[in-house]
Amino acid sequence: MVKIEWNDGLATGIELVDKQHKMLLEKLNDISEAIENQMGVDVIIKTLDFIVDYTDFHFTDEEKHMIEHDYPRIEYHKKMHKEFVDTLNKMITEFKEDGATERLAESVNIYLFNWLVTHIKGVDGAYGRYLKEL
Ligand SMILES: [Fe+2]
Repeated sequence: MVKIEWNDGLATGIELVDKQHKMLLEKLNDISEAIENQMGVDVIIKTLDFIVDYTDFHFTDEEKHMIEHDYPRIEYHKKMHKEFVDTLNKMITEFKEDGATERLAESVNIYLFNWLVTHIKGVDGAYGRYLKEL
């Protein structure tokens, strides 16, 4: 199972954002653990629901931070967040409707890990660098 521990390569340098990213990674690791220990799909669904709520909260905070700092690439960044929220919701609906299995949970989890790490290292990192240059 995939497990990704927090490391400095993921830091954006924005304390609040990094703290929230750590929480998201922790929850994805929880899903890996639930699959590994065969804790059942209910635990996975509960964690996915938490991730949906927490992502909403986190993206709102991140975008607010960008507005406060006049970030010129905010529209593009918001678009990426929105696309992710749409995909996430679709995946979770399918996961619940199609009979949730641990195998399916594994592919959902891998997608989420990939997206999050790529997003953090890519566009969130770029925002962090923008702030440092201000
Ligand atoms: Fe972001």
